[in-house]
Amino acid sequence: MDLTLTTDHRRPTPGPGEYLIRVGAAGINFADVMQTHGTYGAGPQAPYVAGFEAAGEIVGVGPDVKSPLQFGIHVIGTGPGAFAQYMTMPAAGVLPVPSGWSDAAALGLVLNWATALAALKPLGEIQAGGTVLVHAAAGGVGQAAVRLANHYGARVIATASPAKHDTVKALGADDVLDSRRPDLAE
Ligand SMILES: NC(=O)c1ccc[n+]([C@@H]2O[C@H](COP(=O)([O-])OP(=O)(O)OC[C@H]3O[C@@H](n4cnc5c(N)ncnc54)[C@H](OP(=O)(O)O)[C@@H]3O)[C@@H](O)[C@H]2O)c1
Repeated sequence: MDLTLTTDHRRPTPGPGEYLIRVGAAGINFADVMQTHGTYGAGPQAPYVAGFEAAGEIVGVGPDVKSPLQFGIHVIGTGPGAFAQYMTMPAAGVLPVPSGWSDAAALGLVLNWATALAALKPLGEIQAGGTVLVHAAAGGVGQAAVRLANHYGARVIATASPAKHDTVKALGADDVLDSRRPDLAE
């Protein structure tokens, strides 16, 4: 798929239930990678403005947003066209950027950390003293999962490419296996 830089894209208009966001930072999510490979089922059809995970400032609000946040507040969320200067986000899905955090630092909270938390806590029912296997532990979701599993007091066995093992250990993994050869423990 071709990627083209355009400079005349029109600023989107927030629809019902949406904010207009001035994008401060956008993340390249695994879904973006899948989208470029044509394997992301729910994704837009070309041509489209790429990106869907961002943090930025509320500069507009569409109709039917209940108790809207003030203009100028920075939020994290998802929506179409995150790799542009302005994008829209469903208001119901945004979270305020934590006080003192930059947009870039807050980016992972809305998808990566939420995905890791959902896998570990309500689905995995993680408990102190338990053991968790985290695949792709050096990736965005994996790094969050390793740190959260540590937080919950579980033993963490991680998989990653050898060049990333030090990163994963520094995050708190107890054992790291080669993701290409998980049968070979170090
Ligand atoms: N990011 C999200 O918000 C989110 C939400 C829901 C679900 N997920 C799912 O969670 C998984 C991880 O996502 P992520 O965002 O953490 O991805 P990521 O940051 O891009 O990390 C992906 C890692 O997976 C490993 N990998 C193994 N086989 C691979 C392959 N064939 N192609 C690419 N990478 C491969 C690589 O680590 P090694 O080199 O160390 O093996 C790579 O660094 C994906 O399946 C994704 O669909 C992600």
